[in-house]
Amino acid sequence: MSAAAETVRLFFALWPGADLQTRLAAWAKQAAGRGRAMRRENIHLTLAFLGDTEASLVPDLIALAAGVRYAPIRLPLDRIGYWKHNRIIWCGAEQDPPALSGLVSELRARLDSGGIAYDHKPFVSHLTLVRNAAGLDAAPAWVPLLWELADFALVTSVRVEGRVSYQLLQRFPATAG
Ligand code: 2AM
Repeated sequence: MSAAAETVRLFFALWPGADLQTRLAAWAKQAAGRGRAMRRENIHLTLAFLGDTEASLVPDLIALAAGVRYAPIRLPLDRIGYWKHNRIIWCGAEQDPPALSGLVSELRARLDSGGIAYDHKPFVSHLTLVRNAAGLDAAPAWVPLLWELADFALVTSVRVEGRVSYQLLQRFPATAG
């Protein structure tokens, strides 16, 4: 009998630099109320969620994502929101720049042509800041930020002693704008 294939939990994401993560985490802490502020190093924006995937596919995924051509993206983080259905407070753009929608379409098209399974829910760009939140009542004023993006990443999530921790497996830099 063959052993079950090893799987890893994967997604593609935009990963803020430490400075931006620090600013977002500080705001999240103040806004959390009884909710759970995201830890600084875990704050990100998911482009495509693959979930449990055979580990042997990782090199193919890296090759596939390395072929995505895109220029650096300027993403305004000019709004916060609260979703009742999953109780998260998030920040994002009032309107996504076409370059971001283009990146997601190209990445997802490549996953499709590679026969890679992922969550096909429409892309709604957001960075989760607080989980299990009751609303925005405790939230301080939001100061809009501009996020200058120069890469995206393939990320794996692992659970260590009940805590989720993310590891960046590979970064995919933008090509010249
Ligand atoms: P969320 O922050 O809105 O929950 C890792 O779980 C990341 O993938 C999170 O950013 C999560 O978004 C996102 N994600 C997208 N689709 C998902 C799914 N079907 N299951 C779990 N996480 C998903």
